[in-house]
Amino acid sequence: MRRALVTGAAGQIGTELVQALRAELGSDRILATDLREPDADHPVVAGGPFQRLDCTDGDAMTRVTGSFGPDVVFHLAAILSAVGEAHPEKAYAVNMGGLVQVLEAARTNGYAVFTPSSIAAFGPGTPPDPTPQDTIQRPNTMYGVTKVAGELLCDYYHHRFGVDTRGLRYPGLISYSAPPGGGTTDYAVEIFHAALENGSYSCFLAPETQLDMMYMPDAVRAAMELMEADPTRLRHRNAFNITAMQLTPAQLAQALQARIPGFAVTYDPDPVRQAIADSWPRRLDDSAAREEWDWAPAYGLDEMVDDMLAHLGHPHTVDVPSG
Ligand code: NAD
Ligand code: SER
Repeated sequence: MRRALVTGAAGQIGTELVQALRAELGSDRILATDLREPDADHPVVAGGPFQRLDCTDGDAMTRVTGSFGPDVVFHLAAILSAVGEAHPEKAYAVNMGGLVQVLEAARTNGYAVFTPSSIAAFGPGTPPDPTPQDTIQRPNTMYGVTKVAGELLCDYYHHRFGVDTRGLRYPGLISYSAPPGGGTTDYAVEIFHAALENGSYSCFLAPETQLDMMYMPDAVRAAMELMEADPTRLRHRNAFNITAMQLTPAQLAQALQARIPGFAVTYDPDPVRQAIADSWPRRLDDSAAREEWDWAPAYGLDEMVDDMLAHLGHPHTVDVPSG
């Protein structure tokens, strides 16, 4: 990888991926793009080239990638699960309409494409714990439908047109730089801010709802490592299961309460997001990623919580017992 363009770069993943790519390859070799133009002091704008780009505009996608000349496009622009259930037609238009334009422009301009899939690509008929790499994929959300269709479309462009497409099924992602964009796992970010700012949090999922989660540095590294992986080792492409930790709201609350005495958490499940979460896996089997490109996460629950709190400015006040 020598030169990369990122769509949806102002979002939760893009904000950190762009900074990591610039640190690795040099600022002028990374073009950050998004439908919305963030403020001038936003890191993706302040740290290097930024251009407004609607991923569903095929002419613009071909023109911008043609003139910048990336060898990899990280296609992050999408509508996430909860917003997608509120606006399913918009989720379809952006998630499918954007991806097909990125793939079509790849045929013309010859770049590789990274596309995130999600735990949302599975549904209630999938074995939930552990969820195999190759298994039933019958999601019941529009977001999930676009993720499964996107995986198939990426595989199709690879075998039919030779486009180097690769993807990851991300779990819920926890990060401090940018807010999450309207998903079902957003509680795991909100709870940190609530703990530090209000001392209390009302969680929109039930306390025992177990989902796969990952800290953003692992998610960013996984994307970069996958795009550097030896293609002759890849039996799967779109998309690899990856995971780092399995969490319930109650476990995350407990980890925060051990570090922030007095933090109070209540539960008021939102029916839409609870139903989405209940349809998703409890634990992904990531053995294909481990075997085919040596995937390994670095952050578990305690490392993630400590690092999040340090970046959000919280001085640790108590020693947390290990184990
Ligand atoms: P996000 O909502 O934070 O960011 C998405 C960005 O896309 C936003 O900045 C938005 O302005 C932009 N966008 C929307 N429509 C656009 C368009 N037409 N053209 C260009 N940009 C447009 O999302 P994220 O969390 O950064 O997710 C990025 C990708 O990773 C998505 O495909 C998402 O499904 C996937 N993913 C995310 C998570 C997670 O927990 N964050 C988990 C699994 C998969
Ligand atoms: N974190 C994402 C969401 O909740 C999963 O893809 O929508």
